[in-house]
Amino acid sequence: MTMKLIAQGAEAKIFKKGRIIIKDRYVRKYRLPEIDFLLRRSRTRREAKVLEKLKQLKIPCPDLIKVDDKDMKISMDFLDGKKLRDVFHEAPLKFCEEIGKQVGLMHANDIIHADLTTSNMILKDKKIYFIDFGLSFFSTKAEDKAVDLHLLARALESRHFKFFSGCFDDVLKGYKKGNSDYKAVFERLEKVELRGRHKQK
Ligand SMILES: Nc1ncnc2c1ncn2[C@@H]1O[C@H](COP(=O)(O)OP(=O)(O)O)[C@@H](O)[C@H]1O
Ligand SMILES: [Mg+2]
Repeated sequence: MTMKLIAQGAEAKIFKKGRIIIKDRYVRKYRLPEIDFLLRRSRTRREAKVLEKLKQLKIPCPDLIKVDDKDMKISMDFLDGKKLRDVFHEAPLKFCEEIGKQVGLMHANDIIHADLTTSNMILKDKKIYFIDFGLSFFSTKAEDKAVDLHLLARALESRHFKFFSGCFDDVLKGYKKGNSDYKAVFERLEKVELRGRHKQK
């Protein structure tokens, strides 16, 4: 079966082979070799570990098939859907509430995605699947959860500015359903947003 390159990001090549996706964290020559090796290995391992954890929690994500932390490759099932980025305008409020709920669930389980954008979400069978967990980490801190939400807000604002003004409230509405500890996170989020505004000046 042929292998087809379907995406190439800053640090990985994504190949499709039949129903399987292979995420290959290839050698990046601009980094020191020792650092490159450690980064590729830790991100490969982290992504695999978080995918397994999400499966247990029933948070929609690809099924992990294989992880190779020598060649830094992860195989997972191909999600035959659409990048949320491209269909977001069809139902922004509904999608935002669902994103918020799933992110709330992640945070309730101390998983921080750390790269929440609509390019890292795939809509399939009316469900939003989350991908790209290479930068994710585990944390119990309200600060880390607030920053995750703040970065999501900024990503929605820059990519979907037409809808943003109304729709972040729906993210927060969904979040409350996913994370019963939302109060501490929302308080922190206000501080993070203030900090961001001071920095812009
Ligand atoms: N399991 C998957 N099913 C379908 N498409 C995928 C899958 N994993 C990645 N992709 C596609 O490849 C792109 C890049 O993958 P991603 O894991 O986000 O890597 P990067 O770190 O380069 O952003 C995604 O935006 C998506 O379009
Ligand atoms: Mg990505």
